[in-house]
Order: sequence, then structure tokens, then C-alpha cells
Amino acid sequence: MATKRIIIFDTTLRDGEQSPGAGLNSKEKLEIALQLARLKVDVIEAGFPISSQGDFDAVKLVASRVKGPVICGLARAIKKDIDSAYQALRKASRPRLHLFLATSKIHMKYKLRKAKEEILRLAVESVKYARNLADDIEFSPEDASRSERDFLYSIIEKVITAGAKTVNIPDTVGYAVPTEFGQLINGIKQNVPNISKAVISIHCHNDLGLAVANSLSAIKNGAGQIECTINGVGERAGNASLEEIVMALATRKDFFNYNSSVKTREIYKTSRLVSRLTGILVQPNKAIVGKNAFRHEAGIHQDGILKKRTTYEIMRPEDIGLEENRLVLGKHSGRHAFLVRLKKLGVTLKETELTKAFKRFKDLADKKKEIFDEDLLAIVEEEITVLPETWRLENLQITSGNKIVPRAVISLKAKNKVIQRSSSGDGPVDACYKTIDKITGIKGRLLDYSLRAVTGGKDALGEVTVKMQSKGRIVSGRGTSTDILEASVKAYLSAVNKLIN
Ligand code: KIV
Ligand code: ZN
Repeated sequence: MATKRIIIFDTTLRDGEQSPGAGLNSKEKLEIALQLARLKVDVIEAGFPISSQGDFDAVKLVASRVKGPVICGLARAIKKDIDSAYQALRKASRPRLHLFLATSKIHMKYKLRKAKEEILRLAVESVKYARNLADDIEFSPEDASRSERDFLYSIIEKVITAGAKTVNIPDTVGYAVPTEFGQLINGIKQNVPNISKAVISIHCHNDLGLAVANSLSAIKNGAGQIECTINGVGERAGNASLEEIVMALATRKDFFNYNSSVKTREIYKTSRLVSRLTGILVQPNKAIVGKNAFRHEAGIHQDGILKKRTTYEIMRPEDIGLEENRLVLGKHSGRHAFLVRLKKLGVTLKETELTKAFKRFKDLADKKKEIFDEDLLAIVEEEITVLPETWRLENLQITSGNKIVPRAVISLKAKNKVIQRSSSGDGPVDACYKTIDKITGIKGRLLDYSLRAVTGGKDALGEVTVKMQSKGRIVSGRGTSTDILEASVKAYLSAVNKLIN
């Protein structure tokens, strides 16, 4: 039987960005979108333009700069939303308008306060209106999995007649279970007379941990497009994870018989980028991209792997772009070796970035004997941060102990001025952060702080991630150093710099 092709619709920049605290600015969204294009997803949902000026600008930027995938903007089924999405997408060579309107009894009665007839009318009118602006229209009956079947069939039929080319079936609240969700897709195929004129898409949330299972069941039952996000980020418990779906299809081709356009060797890099820019860490046991996903601990397993890899490994780490955690460079490595290694990792830097990253590498090599790929990626990611650094760390001095009050003295540089202040705190990190607040005058609330070692070993690089809130905005920051207090300060400063810019 000929292999079928699934359309991969990535919504990391829209539903993914609805993750609490993910907040991405336009440049960060563009950086992720460019990487999604390298990953070769079919569709990028870049945002919800009417929701804020920032989202509008981000969709516009992505639409004008990212070539290859279809660029999609979300809109409620109302004219002003559709106009806004259309305006934001004007520069896209392949724009798509994605309209949604709830169809479940509970949403229609309590949220929309509208009867079925009105919902049908609004759906049809909005699709017709959008169709006058663009060719590629997707329609989502929100909360489809909890909608009355006959009403759902009827609205799908009518929006297809009105011009929708894709009908997306969202499990908005993550309520469905796999067999049932598969039957829903099959029911649509059997009961919507004109369904062959549209692609059936699905969009699953992970409230019961079933988003990927539901998506795969939908594929088995004829869905042609899957909506998903990198690392499974998204509203509440998140969306179906792109990397899990793509690798399930690739690994179990014997069962599914589907191909996707995704270049799987770009998966790991994309996962890291999304994690770095959203500040949402990937849990170590996360399938495909978690730190432990390819690590074998049990002796019997290690022995089996050495004898024949496939005894315990169903995928190869290199298939997702994960090279072995090899010792690569050291103190005596030169710029050329550094550049070659980065190329191997798929990282290309501009000359100025390379100079900064190489200096950082040399500084690190003075402190840490063995430098692994993970170290390299961490420092490079930090050096090519997309934001102009308003405040930079010049000097840091901390006194701390179990019998004294911790105190920090910090000098920060902005443009050409250097400001030094000091402060005490409950602990050394608190003392540092209070000192930075004094210098910058920005008093954000620290919502989250986490520290992890980038690799093993006592001299490992520490990576700190923080989330900060100020005037209703939530931003994340990340910093790395072999000194965890310096990493803490860098992470906090990168968040502060985001708040300023
Ligand atoms: O979960 C959902 O229903 C959505 C729609 C807007 C597609 O995100
Ligand atoms: Zn959603």
C-alpha cells in the first residue's frame, strides 16, 4: 500500500505561547519560526493577531520573513478578528486564516449565549467573509469532542460548502480518550457528505495525558493534518507533542504507514530553542527530547545495547539530531576546531557572534577541563541571545555563610556607565537580586527559579532559568556559568533586559 502523507501543523507560537508564562516577543517568535521552517513543518500558526499588538506584529514579522511553510493566523469567527489576521498575514506567500467558534452545548449556552441556528449562521458567514480575503481557510468547531454529533456533522458540512479547505476537530479541554476520538473522526468521514473536499485536522490537549494517543488514533481513522507543538507546550497541560507524533509515525511506519515532511534531525535543536526562549524546561523523562530519553542505566540494558543496539533502543539518538555526549574540545582547541564542532551541531554563527562565543568557550575551558557538546550549545545559545543587552554584569562579589547575613556587591554596565551597589538578603541569590533591583530600578516579582547542571561532573556548567513578572508581563531569563551565583545573576539580568526592551 502506498505511504500516505500527514500534514504537520505547528502551533507552538500560538497555542504553545498560551502556556502560562511562556511570553515570547516578536524577535523570539521569528527565531523559532525560522527554526520550524528548517524542521520543515507544513504549517506554522504564528499567533492570534487580534489578541494584542505584540501578537499582530509577531505574525506580521513571521509572515514577511519565513519562507516555505504556510503561515497561519487565528481569528474568532468575527469580521474584526478576520480582518486583523488577514492584515498581519499580507506578506505571507502562503497565508492561511484559521477561524474558530465553539459548538458544544456548554460553550454555546454559557460562554457564547447563542442558539445552534445562530452559531451555524455565524460559522458560514465568517467562512464566506474570510474566503473573499484568502484561499486557504481552516475552520475549528471549538470543543468539538464534547459537541453533539449531528450538530457537529452539520456545521462541518456547511463550512466546507462555504469554502473551508481544512476542518479542525479540537479536543479543547483534553477530555477525549483514544478509541472514542478515533471513532469521532471516523463518524465525520461517514456522516459529512462533502468531507472529501476538505482535509480533516485534529488538535488535542493533554489534560489527561492522552493528547498524542488521541492524535495517533485520529490518524489511524483518517485525519490528514495534526496540530501539535514542540515539547508539547501549550494551554494548561499543553498540546500534543510534535516530536512524539513524528517519531511515532517514523518508528512505527509498519503500523501507521504515514510519512511527514519533518526533518527529524532538527528536532533536538528545535526543542532546546523553544525551551530556552519560553523558559519552560523539558522534564528529564520526556519522550524523545528529555535528557534521559536515550540513556540506559540498567546493566542488563547496557550489556544488550553493546551486543546489539536494537535490543533496547527503538530509535537512534542521531535521528533527532542528538549526537553522543562526547568530550569534544578543551583548553587548547582553536577557533577552527570550535567552528567545525559547531557546524557539526548544526549551529551557524555570524562573525561577531562567533567571536563572542569563542571567547566564552575559552573562559569556560579555563575553568572546566572537559567540554561536551551540551556545554557548547548552552554557551552559544546564551551568546547569541536575540535581545540587545541593556544591562551587563561587570563584577560580582558575594559573602555568604551559615552564620552571617549574605551580602552582594554588584557592578552592572549599561552603555558606557558602570553602576555599583550592594545589598543583603535572605540568601546569596536574594542578595544578588535585591542589588540588581537597586541598580536597574526594575522591581519584578520572581515567579520561578530553577537550577540544573548541563552535564555531569562537579565542575559542570550550572544553568539557571527564572520567570519574572512586572506590570502584567511575564518573561523568562536563562544564564549559565560554572559558578551558580553568576548563572543566577545572568538569568535574572536576561529577564530584566527583556522587560526593558
Ligand atoms: O484548543 C482549541 O480548541 C483551540 C482552537 C482555537 C483550535 O486552540
Ligand atoms: Zn488549543
